[in-house]
Amino acid sequence: MILLLPNVNKFLYFKSKPKSMKSNRVTKFILSLVIVCLFRMTVFAGEGMWLPIFLKSLNEAEMQSLGMKISAEDIYSVNNGSLKDAIVHFGGFCTAELISGEGLLLTNHHCGYSQIQEHSSLDKNYLRDGFWAMSKSEELPNAGLFAKFIDQINDVTDIILTGVEKGMSDKARQSIIDQNIELYLSSNNLGPFQEMQVRPFYNGNQYFAIMSTTYPDVRLVGAPPESIGKFGADTDNWEWPRHTGDFALFRVYAGPDNQPAEYSEENIPYTPKHFLPISLDGVDEGDFTLVFGFPGRTNQYLPSVAVNQLVEKQNPSRIAIRETALGIMDKYMRKDESARLQYASKFARIANYWKKWIGESSGLKRTNALERKRKKEEQFVMKQKKRPFIKKTNILDEFETMYNGIEDYTVARDYYSEVTSRNVELLRVAGLVNNLVGRYEDQGDEGYRAYAERLKGFFSGFYKNYRADIDQEMFAALTEMYVSNLDPKFIPEDLQRKNTTMRGKSYAELGSELYGNTILTDESMMMSLLDGVPAMSVEKFKDDSFVQLAANWKAHYDKVISAPYNGYKTQIDSLQRVYMQAQMDAFPDERFYPDANSTMRVTYGQVEGYFPKDGVCYTPVTHLDGVIAKYKPGDYEFDVSSKLLELYESKDYGQYAASNGKIPVCFLGSNHTTGGNSGSPAIDAHGNLIGLNFDRVWEGTMSDINYDRSICRNIMVDARYILFIVDKYAGATHLIEEMKLVHPKTSK
Ligand code: ARG
Ligand code: ASP
Repeated sequence: MILLLPNVNKFLYFKSKPKSMKSNRVTKFILSLVIVCLFRMTVFAGEGMWLPIFLKSLNEAEMQSLGMKISAEDIYSVNNGSLKDAIVHFGGFCTAELISGEGLLLTNHHCGYSQIQEHSSLDKNYLRDGFWAMSKSEELPNAGLFAKFIDQINDVTDIILTGVEKGMSDKARQSIIDQNIELYLSSNNLGPFQEMQVRPFYNGNQYFAIMSTTYPDVRLVGAPPESIGKFGADTDNWEWPRHTGDFALFRVYAGPDNQPAEYSEENIPYTPKHFLPISLDGVDEGDFTLVFGFPGRTNQYLPSVAVNQLVEKQNPSRIAIRETALGIMDKYMRKDESARLQYASKFARIANYWKKWIGESSGLKRTNALERKRKKEEQFVMKQKKRPFIKKTNILDEFETMYNGIEDYTVARDYYSEVTSRNVELLRVAGLVNNLVGRYEDQGDEGYRAYAERLKGFFSGFYKNYRADIDQEMFAALTEMYVSNLDPKFIPEDLQRKNTTMRGKSYAELGSELYGNTILTDESMMMSLLDGVPAMSVEKFKDDSFVQLAANWKAHYDKVISAPYNGYKTQIDSLQRVYMQAQMDAFPDERFYPDANSTMRVTYGQVEGYFPKDGVCYTPVTHLDGVIAKYKPGDYEFDVSSKLLELYESKDYGQYAASNGKIPVCFLGSNHTTGGNSGSPAIDAHGNLIGLNFDRVWEGTMSDINYDRSICRNIMVDARYILFIVDKYAGATHLIEEMKLVHPKTSK
């Protein structure tokens, strides 16, 4: 049980964890670790998500001093095969890496979850039982999934900022930048499936052009059962000690010429420029680690006033809404097995960030993030007084004014999106239907049909896991929260009690009336309307009071929340750009890395544990013994399959055991990662794969805002656990054969 977080255990899937430490031995061990940990912290800064093109100038020396044996050129090279050629953006939301010369791709189970679910049915339940293609012909195609390779990254700041002058208005500045980007993009010759993007870095102070090639035929090769790939589920999510085998295997296919091609039976496994050999020698504490991937979003350089707002306003309201939503799902899931199956994945999705925000706020408080930021700001102001870096001498005051101004809109905006697009499913559906109506009104029959086709794809999966009774209760509870907690000006007319239809009615009554009369819950009616004559279907949709409510709510939101929010946001973004540059100028001896923006980054650190709280030390490696210790027969989160129990009993570990004879499962490192880094390879000093990144530790989830070396750790599955499961558990030895297994530590 995590003491910092008494509330997380209140739902179904959060149960207290066994405490099994034997104090005496542990104390001695901690003592030795204390010395090791403290020593190391003084050696290395640990923070940063670095651009691969600047590793040589900024990071190579430090990386090598930490034990790295390869060069920056081995990691990123445009002309020669390098590690970067083995790393892909997986579907645009996760990372994956090539681990064989035949396009075999490794990523997380939770990254491939919807594909695995898509191929599952009651009699072929791949989520529950796992899936293993025993030959290439059994590998399963996935519409919409892609693997994007990065061909090259170039600094185009000078080109994109040509003509931009200091005192320019934001509008004028942006219009020059947009023109320059357009001109730059039009000057490039691209092949099919190739793409060039120009992206802002350092809040728009620098621009980089990224050329990429997308392979659209990516097939499912293997996935362990959830009892391995999602072991510990929500209880263990964001936490250490961890015992999850969160991996899945895919394969990139190409046309007969090895070039990208849409799915076809003629396609062949892709031959990569580089793939990662896998180390069988595993990790020891203190080993160098590098994580290479596509981190999504961080905000390290915010002013203190912004961080304060996040902790005091934004996170609490988001957490409260999700808490209510999770409570409702939980209630139904507890009493009804079919509801549990239908809602497991939604529950996990909502719980993931709910839990992260709680951890983030408590971590920000615990590490005195505000104090630190304020001190830094004082230093900045002093420096600015001596030698002004920027014209805006009062930039921090301006931030304060802007953040005060935006505060209510930020909270209202979160409320709107949490209620209407995240938690009340029928409001999201109504939003889609309103888009469809909009298409018809703008583009006529053709627009309608094209969009309806896409919606049919969505709806064909939607109703299977939808329960109107659960959703209706969600609607009643969350609209009530929306109305009670926001300023009256943010409440649409339809939800106000002074409204004639609403007068005197409770939100539960409103819900039952709306859900009782809408066509949106009727699957066959919806399908036939999507297929029907557009003009008639549109009329029917526009007649529906639920659809009307959603449309009016959205219109009200656009006017009274979104528009003023965007007004402030534009000004804040512009201040942030100026402030970012000013910080870089004021502290020239510090290294600044650009915030994550879903572009390719390298982060590095070491295998190491940490102190989660006073008197407790976490060691950095877990083992199969720990899986067995958590085992609860029949439990949704902690069940263990009989096959794995047998392997554990017989100790049939083959070449995958560590030198202590145990099978390692997960390990910790001080690599600075965030959402999007899931599926990223953990790479050793020699460029071999040692693990697969999938999560961070509870105490360090604030790393997106205020990275703190002492408690921010990323969690990886040990590569040997993956190999053990593929080989011994699944018997997919043909996959092991196509990999390259190496012994970097034992043979030179
Ligand atoms: N916390 C990790 C991430 O943000 C893993 C999430 C998937 N696992 C889960 N139990 N929901 O993506
Ligand atoms: N679990 C995250 C992901 O899916 C990784 C993280 O947030 O650390 O990308």
